[in-house]
Amino acid sequence: MNVLELKNVTKKYGEHVAVDGVCLDIEKGKVLSLLGPSGCGKTTTLRIIAGFTSHDSGIVEISGKNVGHLRPYERNVGLLFQDYALFPHLTVAQNVAYGMRYRGTPSSVIPSRIKQMLSLVRMSGMEGRYPAQLSGGQQQRVALARALATDPQIVLLDEPLSALDAKLRVELRIELKEILRSVDATTIVVTHDQEEALSLGDEVVVMQAGKIVQRGTPTQIYAAPADKFVAEFVGRSNWFHGATRDRFTGGVSSYITSEGAEIRAKSAQSEQCGRADLCIRPESIELVEEAAGAIAPDPERNVLTGVVFDVAPLGADVHVVIELPGKTRLLVIRKNIDRIPAVVPGQSVRAVFAASDVLLFSDRR
Ligand SMILES: Nc1ncnc2c1ncn2[C@@H]1O[C@H](COP(=O)(O)OP(=O)(O)OP(=O)(O)O)[C@@H](O)[C@H]1O
Ligand SMILES: [Mg+2]
Repeated sequence: MNVLELKNVTKKYGEHVAVDGVCLDIEKGKVLSLLGPSGCGKTTTLRIIAGFTSHDSGIVEISGKNVGHLRPYERNVGLLFQDYALFPHLTVAQNVAYGMRYRGTPSSVIPSRIKQMLSLVRMSGMEGRYPAQLSGGQQQRVALARALATDPQIVLLDEPLSALDAKLRVELRIELKEILRSVDATTIVVTHDQEEALSLGDEVVVMQAGKIVQRGTPTQIYAAPADKFVAEFVGRSNWFHGATRDRFTGGVSSYITSEGAEIRAKSAQSEQCGRADLCIRPESIELVEEAAGAIAPDPERNVLTGVVFDVAPLGADVHVVIELPGKTRLLVIRKNIDRIPAVVPGQSVRAVFAASDVLLFSDRR
C-alpha cells in the first residue's frame, strides 16, 4: 500500500495556482526527490502534506486515510523546514525533543531518543549547545534529528542541504542518504539542485508551475526527458532547432538546423516530426582531431566541424566549447583523463555524436 497519496491536490493563493492538480503516490521506504525551479510549488506541496497549509481541493491520504482534517502533530509526518528554523533559545537537545513533547512521547523515553538521534546525525556531545554556537552544517544536522525524532511514517525534507557550501553539501548528501536508509523512512526531499535530486531519490518528480511534468528514476529523467523543460532543467544540454529533410530506415531522420547544419536523429517518434528541437548532452559528444584523418561515413552518426573556442579543465572533467559555423556554440564534456592534447583554442576539431543520442522534441507538442 502507498504510505502517501495525493489525489488531484490544488492550492491557490488569490488567482495564483501554487499547486495545480498534483497526483503523487509513494511506497513505504522509498525516497522521492521533488525537483523544480523556484516558485514551482515544492514547499507548498510539502506544507500541505504536513498539514501546515490547507489545500483547496483534492485529497491527501496517509496509509489510505484522508488526513485533510488532521492537525500537523496528528499526522505522523516529520518536516524539515526550508530555513530549518531551530529555536534559538533552546539547546540542541531541547530542539530535538521539541516535536516529541508536542506529540506526547513519554518523558521517560525522550532522553534516550535524543541520544540516539544525535548519534545518528553525528552530533553526540553537543546536546547543551545553542544553535548560535553551531556551524550551518551542524544546525542542519540538528534540524534533521528533530524531524526524525518522532519516528515519523513520512519524512519531508525541504532543501535539507541548502545552507551549506558545495563541498560540505556533497559530503552531507551521502550521509543523508545513509541516514534515510538506516531509519527506513518514506521520504520526500525537495531540492532545486538537480544533482542532489538525482543522487538522493529512488525516483525523481519534476514540477513546473504547480504541476508534475515527469516522474521517473534518475536515469529515465535524464536519458528520456518528457519534454523540453525537463531536458533543459535536468543536466546540461546543447540545443538546435531544425526541420526534417530526409527520413531513412530504422527511425533515422535528418534535420536541417536554423544555422544550416545537418543533424541526424534516431528516435521512435521521428516519423511525426516536421520541425523539432534537438538536444544533445555534452557528454554524448566525442572530439576527433583533424589529424586523426577522415571519419568513415555512417548514416547513424553526426560529424560537425568547428573550432575550439574555450577549454576549461574542471577537475575530473574538461569542458570544451566548440564554435560551429554560424557562431553556434557546442559544449562538450570529456573526462580529463581522455584529454586530447591538440584540443586547444583555435584548433579545428570534429564533434562526433550518435543519431541515437539526439533527443527530439517536436514543435507540435
Ligand atoms: N503564503 C503565501 N501567500 C501567497 N503566495 C504564496 C504563499 N506561499 C507561497 N506562495 C506562492 O506560491 C508559489 C509556490 O511557492 P513555493 O514556496 O511552494 O515554491 P518553491 O517551489 O518551494 O520555491 P523555492 O525553490 O524558491 O523554495 C510561489 O509563486 C509563491 O510566491
Ligand atoms: Mg521552497
